[in-house]
Amino acid sequence: MRVVSGIQPTGKPHLGNYLGAIRNYVKLQDEAVAAGGECLIFLADLHAISMPHDPKELHASTLELVATLVACGVDPNKAILFNQAQVPAHAELQWLLNGTARMGWLNRMTQFKDKSGKNREGASVALFTYPVLQAADVLLYQATHVPVGEDQKQHLELARDIAQKFNMDFVPGYGDEKDPKPGVFTLPDPIIPPEAARIMSLRDGSAKMSKSDPSEMSRINLSDEADEMAKKVKKARTDPEPLPSELEGLEDRPEALNLVTIYAALAQTTPDKVLGDFGGQGFGVFKPALAELMVETLGPIRDRFVELKADREALDAILARGAYQAREIGIPTLAAAYKALGLVRGR
Ligand code: TYM
Repeated sequence: MRVVSGIQPTGKPHLGNYLGAIRNYVKLQDEAVAAGGECLIFLADLHAISMPHDPKELHASTLELVATLVACGVDPNKAILFNQAQVPAHAELQWLLNGTARMGWLNRMTQFKDKSGKNREGASVALFTYPVLQAADVLLYQATHVPVGEDQKQHLELARDIAQKFNMDFVPGYGDEKDPKPGVFTLPDPIIPPEAARIMSLRDGSAKMSKSDPSEMSRINLSDEADEMAKKVKKARTDPEPLPSELEGLEDRPEALNLVTIYAALAQTTPDKVLGDFGGQGFGVFKPALAELMVETLGPIRDRFVELKADREALDAILARGAYQAREIGIPTLAAAYKALGLVRGR
């Protein structure tokens, strides 16, 4: 079992990141340790340069994200925690995979379309080729399990397509019916939490909660103080109807559905059970209950984050140690990819 996942260190990590991905990093890190496998969690700083960014802020936000992940339960003694920039093999493998990835595949990536918007000609080349780097991130380590939110599913499918095509094109006997040879790359499986696959904005039930939303009121940051969280929940967009007793009653009510989903995910229960308790009640009752649960669950994470972020040296040391371990694990796969392509590297 090899768990691998990444998160970008731009903007502040929010509730969507936590429920959709970070909570599963922690769960799978423990499962990997119990199964004698490994868990690698990295800060995708190489991805961060695909959009305009401030170099002065990148180091600070990278360290803050390490503090957040540790505060959420990613344990540097169980998981290998590092940033991509310290492991050159990510960028190196991306180049090797650029020969396998197809323009048509990248043209279909919805995240490129969303992020480049109307200004495609002005988007960076990195934004377009970003999914190939993401494929390199997981294929380098022979990932079996990749915990992500729903929005990364398409990128993971692309990683599988790239791995499959590379193996087919460059590994003689791969896919052989009688005596199949192992590929250079393992095909990774996305692990998406059904209860929190896509947490939506608090201002618009049709947009996902996102670091890049200009409205602070659209998201709960993991570093928000208790009163900020409560204020955002109170101001969250809703409708005037009371909550129904069954899930079908939320079909055309995306904002209400989102708040019920968040409550259920935080309480580790199901939306049906939440509606069993709150059906018939209005938001005047439900919102304060949600805010209370949120503060109760996220408050200790925030306190721990504040403590950890003060010790920059300790955070740098975590990254340095993780990068060393990651570099070691990546060596054989990178070497195998060079060899399969017929590239001569010497000794
Ligand atoms: P990023 O930094 O945008 O998000 C980190 C993780 O949080 C999940 N997520 C959400 N889940 C549910 N609801 C939401 N509203 C929500 N918003 C974000 C994301 O799905 C992700 O799992 N490209 C990636 C980083 C990356 C990566 C990788 C991930 C780079 N290489 C290799 C996995 C494997 C990204 O920008 O995630």
